[in-house]
Amino acid sequence: MMNKQEKTLNNEVQHAVEEFVQIFCSEKQKLPANRIMNEACENQIAKLKKIGIPSKGRSIDKVVNEMIEDIYKYRAESNHPRFFGFVPGPASMLSWLGDIMTAAYNIHAATWTTSPAASCIEQELISWLCTQVGYTEKSGGLFVSGGSMANMTALTAARDTILKEETRHLGVAYVSDQTHSSVAKGLRIIGIPNDRIRKIPTDSLFRMDIKELKAAIELDIKNGLIPFVVIASAGTTNTGSIDPLQEIASLCQRHSMWMHVDGAYGASILLTKKYKHLLNGIEKADSVSWDAHKWLFQTYDCGMVLVKDKRNLLNSFHANPEYLKDLEAKKDQINYGDMGMELTRPARGLKLWLTLQVMGSDAIGDAIEHGFQLAEWAEDELKKKKDWEIISHAQLAIVNFRFAPSGITEEQADELNQEISKAIIDSGYAGVFTTELDGKKVLRICAINPYATESDMRNTIRRLNEYAQEFYQPMEAIS
Ligand SMILES: Cc1ncc(COP(=O)(O)O)c(C=O)c1O
Repeated sequence: MMNKQEKTLNNEVQHAVEEFVQIFCSEKQKLPANRIMNEACENQIAKLKKIGIPSKGRSIDKVVNEMIEDIYKYRAESNHPRFFGFVPGPASMLSWLGDIMTAAYNIHAATWTTSPAASCIEQELISWLCTQVGYTEKSGGLFVSGGSMANMTALTAARDTILKEETRHLGVAYVSDQTHSSVAKGLRIIGIPNDRIRKIPTDSLFRMDIKELKAAIELDIKNGLIPFVVIASAGTTNTGSIDPLQEIASLCQRHSMWMHVDGAYGASILLTKKYKHLLNGIEKADSVSWDAHKWLFQTYDCGMVLVKDKRNLLNSFHANPEYLKDLEAKKDQINYGDMGMELTRPARGLKLWLTLQVMGSDAIGDAIEHGFQLAEWAEDELKKKKDWEIISHAQLAIVNFRFAPSGITEEQADELNQEISKAIIDSGYAGVFTTELDGKKVLRICAINPYATESDMRNTIRRLNEYAQEFYQPMEAIS
């Protein structure tokens, strides 16, 4: 009886999978014509809350259709070619395939014994990524959920390598005013409070100011504290700026500090021929964060933390409880559960491996270079328009700008740019969000979707300009 029920359920699941794949693939083809955001109104949320959890099961077809129509439909479409907000997630169909295959087999990728082949592939891939950074054979790392986890994992290794238990309360970390918020979050979690996190100012190009960094380190040493880590950004979230990696490496060397590079966004340019040189010096870092669910076109979640010496991760994260003794790694094997916080973990690297196998690394490099070009087209179009100010020039696929006609106050300009952003998002055409630079509200484009075109970029700017003209007139009349 049980077997029959199970068989029926398996058949139903198989049917549902086949139907879903068809629906998803046809949706994917229509994507460029879709709105970039589908917000859920209050009624929709109320409808979802009403569903509750039934005591008796319901038909699989009904539930799957409900999920497609009532849940998945409402989202920010960060795969859309004109979604330019935050760091978009233009996941490739190959990554999606790798993801569902890995989920289907539900591999426990914490230990070599439970996942020998998957662990071997992750090891090979990590080793290849380390080579791109310029690391030697001693290096290593692991796949984690994303940049935040990669940063926290690396910072834990930094703390444990540089500070002793009895000096932990004196350790100081250095970030810039442009460092991603996940770094301070990670530092606080590992026991470094805000008053031992120095926020170093940036220069006119939003890069960490080396003189200020040097002065801050020297002052802390003078005060009996122990500077232990500098976090350099390789592609800041706001502007794509790269901190002076060589100078930071020299300072870290001089003061026996750990150098971490947050390359969650920008490390992917290591795969390009044209822009790889921008990261010269990254090979001197003790650790690097790198997100594959950003500019390596992977589905969430997929990030990497790489370290120059893999023993540093093992020292911080290796655990050997009695119930795992049967699974201990032998020579040349890696138990990834011993290199990071997660024990049970999916083999996140497999989807990236599949993507690289099918596309080849050159094609991925070309797709990354396309992002640089997209931001340049946007900047070029902006330069043709009156009253638009470029706040940070196109770099690493990011450009920041604002509409600032003369005669309006800073507050009015802030308001105007917020309105312009809202208008283009509400129109469904493009996702251009705001950020703040030098205390000003600005519009920001981060364009990394390989399917975005020159006309997508130019038309987005033209539309922004139309909204600017429309909103500017009434404001003039009011003042
Ligand atoms: C530079 C940088 N670091 C870290 C992160 C955090 O990454 P995640 O969202 O994958 O945790 C981001 C996210 O945008 C980022 O841009």
